[in-house]
Amino acid sequence: MKIISNSAKQTRKVGAELGWLAKAGDVILLEGGLGVGKTCLAQGIAHGLGIDGYVISPSFVLLREYQGRLPLYHIDFYRLDRIEEVAYLGLDDYLYGGGVCIVEWAEKGLGMLPGEHLLIKMQHIAPAKRKLAFYPEGPRYEEMLSQLKLTRSVARK
Ligand SMILES: Nc1ncnc2c1ncn2[C@@H]1O[C@H](COP(=O)(O)OP(=O)(O)O)[C@@H](O)[C@H]1O
Ligand SMILES: [Mg+2]
Repeated sequence: MKIISNSAKQTRKVGAELGWLAKAGDVILLEGGLGVGKTCLAQGIAHGLGIDGYVISPSFVLLREYQGRLPLYHIDFYRLDRIEEVAYLGLDDYLYGGGVCIVEWAEKGLGMLPGEHLLIKMQHIAPAKRKLAFYPEGPRYEEMLSQLKLTRSVARK
């Protein structure tokens, strides 16, 4: 499934919908270059999980933890140089824990991340336009996507 978002606000709305639907143990992987809107989508997910306050990019600390309806573990591999580093970080407690995991720059850690996940590839189309392509891996994420109710302003492509 692919959608087009025409503003940061729309991207946050899509995120909030995912946050609403999220269950304990869910893993959401985000791919796409700098400034494409990964953190923006993560902010929406946090909002949907009932997390108040501003969710910032954890780029400089690798992981930030928030408490909402479920715990949110917001991971960012931006500063990761080698995939082997993932193994040393001890992230499995988070990735296979009882919270919701969001991983920015997931392409840097693929192979070390859970095989069952929702992958969202984001692409820059125009200054305020982004394409979001959803790749569910596993029945849980097929279910999650089938429940996603997008507002009419977000075009399904
Ligand atoms: N449709 C859109 N979706 C998401 N962000 C958008 C969109 N249009 C413009 N933006 C802007 O792009 C930037 C995305 O930044 P950010 O979410 O931090 O990106 P990333 O985490 O991928 O590096 C923000 O300044 C946001 O306001
Ligand atoms: Mg970011």
